[in-house]
Amino acid sequence: MDLFSLSGKTALVTGARTGIGRAIAVGLASAGAKLILLGRGDLSDVSDAVISTVSVDLEDPSSIEPALAPVLASHRIDVLVNNAGTIGRGPAAEVSLPDWRRVLSVNLDSAFELSKLVGGQMLAQGSGKIVNIASLLSFQGGINVAAYTASKHALAGLTKALANEWASSNVQVNAIAPGYIATNNTAVLQADPVREPQIRTRIPAGRWGTPEDLVGAAVFLSSRASDYVTGHVLVVDGGWMGR
Ligand SMILES: NC(=O)c1ccc[n+]([C@@H]2O[C@H](COP(=O)([O-])OP(=O)(O)OC[C@H]3O[C@@H](n4cnc5c(N)ncnc54)[C@H](OP(=O)(O)O)[C@@H]3O)[C@@H](O)[C@H]2O)c1
Repeated sequence: MDLFSLSGKTALVTGARTGIGRAIAVGLASAGAKLILLGRGDLSDVSDAVISTVSVDLEDPSSIEPALAPVLASHRIDVLVNNAGTIGRGPAAEVSLPDWRRVLSVNLDSAFELSKLVGGQMLAQGSGKIVNIASLLSFQGGINVAAYTASKHALAGLTKALANEWASSNVQVNAIAPGYIATNNTAVLQADPVREPQIRTRIPAGRWGTPEDLVGAAVFLSSRASDYVTGHVLVVDGGWMGR
């Protein structure tokens, strides 16, 4: 359907080497988008649609601007997916300030910096879509993941703040809140003989999500189909939040 076509569009996706980011990048390419991938390691093999890669460690958000400048100068970007994220697990009373800052730098500060840089170009060009990958922990407290929960609550807030500022310039800013998805991020939980069945049996769909379960929402929020949707956090969770 034309409404969901990304033909002629260019999407910048962060953290696409693995998991949800990789599935979303491949999904956007299937809908017709060309890809610019930003993150660590070799990203060129993710899809034939990759036209450029940007090597950045998002633990240092100040490194984004110089690395991205040549890409912004030579490409129009229609879609930004702030997917890269990290997690630290442990009781809040034992979390060091550097560990706290590492999670906030990757999950929040980098998403802000990228939104500012790419969003600035979108404002100038009169259109754009930003999709932030939030979490159920944008709504709930979680267990032993204080920095991650704080970062994902803040990311949902940033989504709404930017949506309000940029709606009149035809730049839509939304988020996807994935439920429990089988990726590296949740490997510890999947392997935990106590937590795994607790999580799975609480999910109304009766199974963990797969990265591919996020693709439909990502294409929707990246395409013309969502032109009047902004400031929304779309939960894709097999029913978890409705229970
Ligand atoms: N899995 C879930 O249940 C779940 C639920 C809710 C939200 N999420 C969110 O979904 C997003 C993707 O996570 P995932 O589940 O797909 O896990 P994942 O496979 O671990 O993917 C995380 C991605 O982020 C990148 N990344 C992490 N730290 C980085 C850094 N310092 N600089 C650059 N890139 C960095 C990783 O790159 P490397 O390959 O170089 O490490 C990787 O590509 C995250 O924002 C996560 O919080 C996941």
